[in-house]
Amino acid sequence: MYLTREEEAILEGEQGPTLQKAMEILSALGDIYGADGLVPIKSAQIAGVSYKTIGDAGFEWISDLKGTVVVPSMLNPAGMDLTRWQEMGIDEEFASKQIQIIEAYRRLGVRCGCTCTPYHIDKTLAKFGDHLAWSESSAVSYANSVIGARTNREGGPSALSAALIGKTPNYGYHLDENRVPTVTVKIDSKLEGADYGALGHLVGSMVGSGVPLFKLASRPANTELKALGAAMAASGAVALYHVQDVTPEAGLYQETTDTIIIERAQIDEVFGKGCQDEPDLVALGCPHYSADELEQVAKLLEGKNLDREVWICTSRNIRDANPDLVNKIESTGAKVIVDTCMVVSPATDRFGCVLTDSGKALNYIPGLCGVGSRLATINDCLRGGDNN
Ligand code: F3S
Repeated sequence: MYLTREEEAILEGEQGPTLQKAMEILSALGDIYGADGLVPIKSAQIAGVSYKTIGDAGFEWISDLKGTVVVPSMLNPAGMDLTRWQEMGIDEEFASKQIQIIEAYRRLGVRCGCTCTPYHIDKTLAKFGDHLAWSESSAVSYANSVIGARTNREGGPSALSAALIGKTPNYGYHLDENRVPTVTVKIDSKLEGADYGALGHLVGSMVGSGVPLFKLASRPANTELKALGAAMAASGAVALYHVQDVTPEAGLYQETTDTIIIERAQIDEVFGKGCQDEPDLVALGCPHYSADELEQVAKLLEGKNLDREVWICTSRNIRDANPDLVNKIESTGAKVIVDTCMVVSPATDRFGCVLTDSGKALNYIPGLCGVGSRLATINDCLRGGDNN
């Protein structure tokens, strides 16, 4: 990969060992994937935050770095709510390590909002056509597909390296030729809510790392697109999709010759899969909920007194900006959990069967938490607990 003289100097260590290491990672990636050079980025979103997933090796790597990120950079969810971790049943040793990891990122100038939906809290992080270095798979999918920005699915170290240098190798989804649909997906029945998670669960496993172009019978809201992309990135490796007449780049492309048709019965089948026991945890907010989704939950929970554990995962910014909604939700016994989620926190591991409205959580909870999972509509997730 071509490097400018200034970039070469960084690679040779003229600006210290942290930037040298960052440039080594970026140039190695660029060489492997055939990038022509580095492209400036607007923002970074950095995974590799939960102590549950990175362990001591990851903690040490981050702690050794010195410097400051040069573009707005957001952290992915951590392994616990950073203030209410005791309520989640997190032990002191885990909490201490997790807090030190967050502090290490903070010293590098990373914003510790700990969310996979940074676009809900700062719209300047990604606009149409911007180059980014984002790493959480659902955030990558949303940025590429719904916003029309350009990012590969970065690993934690490469996203952090890009944040420190302000650039990323120019290959993959940064290039027009890799944004062209590879398969058309048609579904004739109307979908809503968790149906999109079920659709994503099916299509991700069928198309792998392809770029699907959807022809849908109903117009999805952005929160439904978020659920669709998250599920496809979990059951497959889809980082970009288009929806005809909906997403910003879809109009550039024709239907492909390769076509998949999805029937309503296939969607319904996804809801019947997974653990069949009585769920002992209901977990919503994968990806992290927006303020509108919190409002929907508050309405559905009105007048209820819940008798089982219910978590609503969102970002700390959204929780702090919506105190009335949070009070309404928590007065029913549900918990609005922030900085973390049901997949990356070890707090989920003590349950037996998790009911969720997310196709991504459906896929990841069994493998990453060793716990059963089942998909349900948001109404079914929040059914029960009525006062009358
Ligand atoms: Fe976000 Fe956690 Fe789901 S990081 S996409 S809420 S698995």
